[in-house]
Parts: sequence; structure tokens; C-alpha cells
Amino acid sequence: MSEDAVKAMKQQVGIAAAQRVQSGSIVGLGTGSTTAFAIEHLGDRLKSGDLKDIKGIPTSFQASVLAKKYGIPLVTLDDVEKIDIAIDGADEVDPNKVLIKGGGAAHTREKIVDSLADVFIVVVDSTKLVETLGSTFPLPVEVLPVAVSPVTRALEALGGKPELRMGVKKDGPVITDQGNMILDVTFGSIPNPAEFEKTLNNIPGVLDNGLFVGLADVVLVGEIKEGQPIV
Ligand code: 5RP
Repeated sequence: MSEDAVKAMKQQVGIAAAQRVQSGSIVGLGTGSTTAFAIEHLGDRLKSGDLKDIKGIPTSFQASVLAKKYGIPLVTLDDVEKIDIAIDGADEVDPNKVLIKGGGAAHTREKIVDSLADVFIVVVDSTKLVETLGSTFPLPVEVLPVAVSPVTRALEALGGKPELRMGVKKDGPVITDQGNMILDVTFGSIPNPAEFEKTLNNIPGVLDNGLFVGLADVVLVGEIKEGQPIV
């Protein structure tokens, strides 16, 4: 599928999710290129007066920069008692709405925000749908820098092939918003994600992994039908 087609699907689905937000809501703002379209559309709706008095809780530095750019007022988890709705992307979605996230190295904060939302809407293009998790995308694991070596060995002992995520120039590791590193772990398939999420998070030095089990309420999928992007 062409890059333009995937972008068009992401845009459609981002806009569709932003349309579901109601005035007065506290909105979890996810990370990534699909959610970026949702954040932009929320800004458009605020500007046009179609939407009023929302407050965003960003899941990353990227989300907060975009929210400021598009005029969405921000609050923190200390300021609110609940989140009404969260919109976030994913790297893989299985038929049970279980996700792999963390392609943008933001899954630890994303899991906190998304899990607190009354309604968590996942926005993906159709290329993200899989039968078995782990089949197309390595599982991101956020690790304290001092623990990268022992965590690498522990992940290998569980049958994974971990790789330290490097920056685009390949001259140093990606550092998360929390100051940690990411191991991208290829497992081939993850048949029991609920159990596996806990097993991985039990390794000392692991902050969180990209398995999101039982969190997604709605999955909006962007598709191309007859050359046109639809949701
Ligand atoms: C960031 C994420 C993203 O939501 C995920 O990688 C999807 O990104 P995109 O919408 O750019 O395809 O989990 O940590």
C-alpha cells in the first residue's frame, strides 16, 4: 500500500475519533502520526466553536507540543479526577482489541492515561490489524538505562530477540520522555498477552511494555475502499 494511502487512512480515522469528543471533556491525547490528525481536528473544532471547554492530558512531549500548536488547553493527572475519553494509536491490534503500542516510545505514559479513560478509542489504519500479536511488530519494552544488560538477558531467556532502539542517525539510543531506553523485542508471536504483560513487567528494571490488554473500548479502523479512505 502506498504511503499516501496509509496517510489518508490515518487522517480519516483521526478525524472520526476527534468527532466523538464532546464539549466539557477531559481528553487523553495519544502519541503518533494517527493521533496527530485527531489532535489537529480537535483544535479545528475548538476554533470553529463546534467544541467548547475541553482539556487535554498529553501522553508524551510530542502530544503536548501538538496540543499547544492547535490551541488545546492542557492539564495534568494531578488536576483531574478522571479522563472522559482518550484517543491513541497502536502498532498492532488483534481480534480481541489487545494492542501492541510503543512505536513512538511513549507506551508507559500512554498506558497510564489510556487506562484512566472512561472510553479509550484506538485509531489505526487497516495495516495494523493482525491475527496474532507480535507477528509484524517487535514488542517495545521501556527499561531503566542501568538495567539494559540484565533485562536484555532476561528477555532472551523468555525466547525474545531484544534490540536496543537507536535514534534515526544510529549514533545513540532513543531516550524516552522519562529518560529511559527502549528494547524492541521480537517474539514471533505472543499467544497469551495478558499473562505475558505481567511476566515482562516483573523483570527488575522494566518500566512497562507495549502490551495493552483489556484497555481498548473502541477500535476505529481506517480503510481504503474504491480508492477512497473510509472509517
Ligand atoms: C507511540 C504509539 C503510537 O500510537 C503507535 O506507534 C502508532 O503510531 P502511528 O499512529 O504513527 O502509526 O504507540 O508510542
